[in-house]
Amino acid sequence: MTPARISAFTGLKCTECHTSFGEDDVLGRCPKCDAPLDTALDEEYLKEKGKQTGSENASSMWRFRAFLPVRDDTRIVTAGEGGTQLRKLSSLPGHVWLKDESRNPTGSFKDRGASLAVTKALQLGMKRLVLSSEGNAGCSFALYSGIGRISCSVFLPKLANASKVVLTKRLGATVTRVTGTIADAGRRAESSVQRNGGYNASTFITPYRHDGKGTIALEICEQLGWRCPDWIVYPLGGGVGLVGMWKMFKILENIGWVSVKPRLVAVQPAGCAPIVKAFSSDREDVEEWRSPKTSALGLKIPKPLAGRWILKTLRESHGVARAVTEDDIRKSTKRLARDEGVLLEPSSAAAFAALPGLYEEKLVDPSEQVVVIGTGSGLKTLESL
Ligand SMILES: Cc1ncc(COP(=O)(O)O)c(C=O)c1O
Ligand SMILES: [Zn+2]
Repeated sequence: MTPARISAFTGLKCTECHTSFGEDDVLGRCPKCDAPLDTALDEEYLKEKGKQTGSENASSMWRFRAFLPVRDDTRIVTAGEGGTQLRKLSSLPGHVWLKDESRNPTGSFKDRGASLAVTKALQLGMKRLVLSSEGNAGCSFALYSGIGRISCSVFLPKLANASKVVLTKRLGATVTRVTGTIADAGRRAESSVQRNGGYNASTFITPYRHDGKGTIALEICEQLGWRCPDWIVYPLGGGVGLVGMWKMFKILENIGWVSVKPRLVAVQPAGCAPIVKAFSSDREDVEEWRSPKTSALGLKIPKPLAGRWILKTLRESHGVARAVTEDDIRKSTKRLARDEGVLLEPSSAAAFAALPGLYEEKLVDPSEQVVVIGTGSGLKTLESL
């Protein structure tokens, strides 16, 4: 007997050459053109299924499994990620809400992507996951690989935050520290896969992370009574959350659950802002940022591997990309802790640091609803609080 269909997933599709691949093909980037792959979701299925999709099981992101690329309901690797609070921050001018991703199992939104990617790894029969990370993804993959009993090897830059390194190790992953940036760590991860086997689960090498983060968009719309906010402000590193959320906002509009999509703001630190630079100079692709320097380590990604996809997403949403200074990031981190009891790490507080500028340039009106994604907890970066 064929098991009942649980999701809209129909296979993989290249974001550049649009070639389609099967549901069970074990792939990283496109075998034809090396661009990132996306998952294909059948919108008719979602339309027919209706909003009750959102009410299945618990409060984790898996209640939206109809939007996730899985076929098997029995081996889902979860620690209760997602279902995070959306709350108004009254100390800030305007109409600003926090989507509080610090409440996830390891304290960051990376848990959503890792829960999905490790679930896929288990369902596709993989035995070893390998990835490069700035720190948070390492913690997340260590946690979920542990639950799924899959071996996990994480390559971190030498300068990665100490608490993240310790947590990744304690949760059972093998950690290798690499001299240089995340790009160097990425090369080491790939050569480890070539030498010792395994699956490369790094950002935009695997197509199985962005839909997990996309559930943030589904939750926000549900929390607002199936309506989008006017703006989403997002601290951008590899861009996984940005493209994942935008994909879901578009689907929600196509299936008639929301009527107007939000505009997106990507925020990067001035010391590593390759997307801001490419966006402002109307480029379609991203140049590598030389000598990146920032305390926001999660955003220290000199050349995002989905640069074209990120830029297309920002333009489609009539969005913008803005840079913030180290001083702004520092002040924003401390002010949020003091005035709102919101403990965020600098990579996350960076998004809030962009708000005053957005009002000053009159891009955002104080009457408009702004949702800022609070991507990661400050409890792993106490030195910045
Ligand atoms: C706290 C935090 N915020 C934002 C990001 C950037 O995420 P993305 O790669 O989805 O752009 C990261 C990535 O490491 C992070 O750790
Ligand atoms: Zn392709």
